[in-house]
Amino acid sequence: MRVDEKGNWRSFRHRNFRILFPANALSNIGTWAQRVAQDWLVLELTNNNGFYLGLVTAIQFAPVLLFSLHGGALADRVDKRKLLILTNIIAAIATFERCLISADSRYDQYLRKQTTLSESELRGLNLFMGEKAECFHCHGSFNFNDQVRYVGLSQVDTPFHNTGLYNIDGKGGFPFPNRGLFEATTNPKDMGAFRAPSLRNVAVTAPYMHDGSVATLEEVLDFYAAGGRVIRSGLYAGDGRVNPYKSGLVNQINLSEQDKADLVAFLKTLTDQGFLTNPRFSKPAISQ
Ligand code: HEC
Repeated sequence: MRVDEKGNWRSFRHRNFRILFPANALSNIGTWAQRVAQDWLVLELTNNNGFYLGLVTAIQFAPVLLFSLHGGALADRVDKRKLLILTNIIAAIATFERCLISADSRYDQYLRKQTTLSESELRGLNLFMGEKAECFHCHGSFNFNDQVRYVGLSQVDTPFHNTGLYNIDGKGGFPFPNRGLFEATTNPKDMGAFRAPSLRNVAVTAPYMHDGSVATLEEVLDFYAAGGRVIRSGLYAGDGRVNPYKSGLVNQINLSEQDKADLVAFLKTLTDQGFLTNPRFSKPAISQ
C-alpha cells in the first residue's frame, strides 16, 4: 500500500484479494471514511515486514469483508466491525493473541506441586531468579519478560535494553535496519535497545535475538557469560562487550560452565507441550 504525493491510494494486492481505496478518501466521504483513511495511513507509516506479516495473518484469520471504498457508496451499508481496516485487524490479532496462554509447562506444574524438577533444573531456576545470573531483572515477570507490571515488580523502568550483541563502529552501532528503539527515536542512547522477550517455550523457538543471530540456547548463555558478543570479522565485526550503551546488568552476569548448563536445563522446563500441540492454535485451513 502506497500513497503518492497527491495523496492518491494505489490498490493493494494480496494472493487472494484485491483491495481498492479512493484517491480522495480524506476529503470527500465523511468522518467515518476519514477514520478508515487514517487507519491505513498508520499502516503505511509502520509498514515494515512484521507489520505486513501481521496484515496477511489477519487477512487469513479474521472473518473480514473485503470491499471497495470507491465513491464511498458502500460505507453506510456494511457492518463496520467486519471491514478490513487497521482497527479491526488489530482487534482480530489481539483477540487471537489473548487466547494464546501458555501455563502448563513443567515449570508451571512444579509451581502447582504436580511435578518435581531435577537438581540441575532447580539450580537453574535459582540462578535465573538470583543476583549471580541477573536474568530476572529483565525476564522476571510470570511470562519471563519485563513487559507486564505486577505486584512485587523489582523495578518499574522503560523496558528496553542493550545486551551488547553488536558494536560495529566502536561507538555502539547495531546493523541497520535492526537498531532497536533507535529506529523509532533516533536518540543515540536508544541504539541497540530491545524489549526483553518472553522465554516461555523458548527451547522450541531458535534461532534467538531480534535478528536470529544466535543459534542455540547454549550460545545465548555463552553470550551472557561473556558480557556481550565479539564478532571477529566481516561486515558486523566489533566487540559488543564494550558497547557504550550496554546495560550495566549484563556486566554483572557471572556464570561457570555448570551454571550455564543448569540455566539451559531450567529454560527447557518452560516448554508447554499442550500449548504447542493445541489444534486451536495451529494454522487454519484456508480455502484458495
Ligand atoms: C539487561 C536485561 C537482560 C538481562 C539481565 C538478561 N536478558 Fe535475556 N534478553 C534481554 C533482551 C533485551 C533480549 C532481546 C535481545 C535482542 O533481541 O536483541 C533478551 C533475549 C534473551 C533470549 C533470547 C530469546 C529469544 O526468543 O530470542 C534468551 C534465551 C535470554 N534472553 C535469556 C536470558 C538469561 C538466561 C539471562 C540470565 C543469564 C538473561 N536473559 C538476562 C534482556 C536481558
